[in-house]
Amino acid sequence: MAKIPQQVIDDIRDKTNIVDVIGQYVQLKKSGSKNYAGLCPFHNEKTPSFSVAEDKQFYYCFGCGRGGNIFSFVQEIEGLSFVESVLKVAEMEGVEVSEQYQNVAVESQASSQQQQLIQLHEKAAEVYHHMLMNTAIGEAALDYLHKRGLDDQLIEEFNIGFAPNQRDFLVRVFQNESLDSEAFPNSGLFVERESEELVDRFYQRIMFPIRNFQGKTVGFSGRFFATEEISNQEQPKYLNSPETSLFNKREILFNFDKARSSIRKGSTVYLFEGFMDVLAAYHSGVTNGIASMGTSLTNEQITSISRIAQELVICYDGDQAGLDATNRAISHLQETSRLNLSIVSVPEGLDPDEYVKKYGQDAFVNLLEHGKETVFLFKMRYRRLNKNMANEKEQLEYVQELLQDLLDVDSLIEQDRYLTQLSSEFQISRESLQQQLYDLKRQRRNKKQRPPQSNVRSEHGESRSPSNKTQVQKAEELLLYRLFNDETLNQRLKQSQVTFFHEVYQELYMLFDAYIESEGEFVLAKFLDFLKDDRMRNIVGTIASLKVPEEGSQQEIEDLLQVIQTSNLTEEINEKKLKLQEASQKGNQELELGLATEIINLTKELKQAK
Ligand code: GTP
Ligand code: MN
Repeated sequence: MAKIPQQVIDDIRDKTNIVDVIGQYVQLKKSGSKNYAGLCPFHNEKTPSFSVAEDKQFYYCFGCGRGGNIFSFVQEIEGLSFVESVLKVAEMEGVEVSEQYQNVAVESQASSQQQQLIQLHEKAAEVYHHMLMNTAIGEAALDYLHKRGLDDQLIEEFNIGFAPNQRDFLVRVFQNESLDSEAFPNSGLFVERESEELVDRFYQRIMFPIRNFQGKTVGFSGRFFATEEISNQEQPKYLNSPETSLFNKREILFNFDKARSSIRKGSTVYLFEGFMDVLAAYHSGVTNGIASMGTSLTNEQITSISRIAQELVICYDGDQAGLDATNRAISHLQETSRLNLSIVSVPEGLDPDEYVKKYGQDAFVNLLEHGKETVFLFKMRYRRLNKNMANEKEQLEYVQELLQDLLDVDSLIEQDRYLTQLSSEFQISRESLQQQLYDLKRQRRNKKQRPPQSNVRSEHGESRSPSNKTQVQKAEELLLYRLFNDETLNQRLKQSQVTFFHEVYQELYMLFDAYIESEGEFVLAKFLDFLKDDRMRNIVGTIASLKVPEEGSQQEIEDLLQVIQTSNLTEEINEKKLKLQEASQKGNQELELGLATEIINLTKELKQAK
């Protein structure tokens, strides 16, 4: 198997621009002469702290501390290996790569255990699909789907299937194939009996394959298919694959792979409650619909959506449960994302799928496109539902709650309009509403003025804000920054014999030294490849993004070395003092004396260093 030579990798990096590549995932705005800024695609944020430096060809997020070069970006965002990311970047930017390296990624991937599990799922999907389409066993289920408005084309496209009422169906099919049975127990397709015998997890169910973001089947959701003979009340309506190494419920979104390109195009995504709703919408030509796995959206899912969409339309069921879920989703999304939200409420308590059935596809598409309401209008309707508006006390409560909601309305014009609306509906003077709103705003601002909690991951892995760095840490980072920009300083550092106080910085320095040794000159983007370790890369990101005066001075270096040396000595003295205590407790006079002498010498040295 051909390994991609470093030279080829360097060539691809030289011919591509990190700004173009990241620009395909993140909306970047120019900030300053060489930098671009945008919302970090790796964590949820409302204000941009993600920056891309064109001249240095690297990115860094001040919010979450992630950073790296063009390859590490693609690697992380697409979930690829390093080699795959190199090929992907080449492909994105139209850089030709010799045929012999093209297969490297595919081959290395094929060996993985994940690939094996995907193969099992693809196989299972194929078999279930065959049962539905071509056998008498699947006939009733197929009729049912047709009656629900799904045609064969849609069933084909989503590879929907049927698992017969037989606990050893898939077990037998798989036994006859040359599949590696070691992977069966971990696939989630089977359940282990006490006798360690495997039986099918899914039976008597219409099978919806769940695909990951790359379009590979990684799990199933099976809808119980009741017939006259089989109407087992004990069965849950939907049964999902369990969590496996492939199937991560926090991340997966139904139909995200197919919807992705149309979401990107229109910057809008429709969020539905159920699979059947997504399918009904898709069938009606609304291809930018997705659903979670019957649970509320997780932060991971919101991050994936925010990467490609600006507007999210919540289109849950029109019943009370659906409205409550909509209200919860609004709060969660407002807290964690910058997505513009709107709501489509399906009339008559129907779910979207039922609505299509009752009023037809055109009416449904019309509803989705023109039936959107703002979050505030939804709240006006929603908050009314559980209140007796004839009661004056409840009426005032209602107004009070809505004023709170009004704080989340960004547009002043909209705010103004709603104030007028409330004022005329409840005959409250506009001025007093305005005053109350103003008071609420102030209250909220005060609440927010807690100490900022930044998510910068420190070198120890825990969170802490950048301003919490100690003086010596700052000195160490600045010294490394200077080294990165002027490798001749390395000589000076070696002469001084000063080592870094914190282990990570010393480790990073040693990597830097090794890199210079082999490469001769320092190129940040290349150094990041050289590092391979994400933690180190992130630290380099922090350092390379320090806001410091362009030019250092001789004096500055001396000062930095002094701060670091002082810390080293102080630490050493403290350690020796502890040992001295121990020695005197144990009555070891010889050791005591030796330690005392060392402490005196070190203290002298410390005084000189200061
Ligand atoms: P139909 O009844 O076929 O129209 O399904 P639906 O798409 O209308 O589903 P429904 O509104 O009842 O539920 C919405 C979503 O919640 C489904 O797509 C599932 O993801 C999830 N869900 C519903 N019932 C169950 C259940 O019994 N178990 C699990 N795990 N999930 C369920
Ligand atoms: Mn339904």
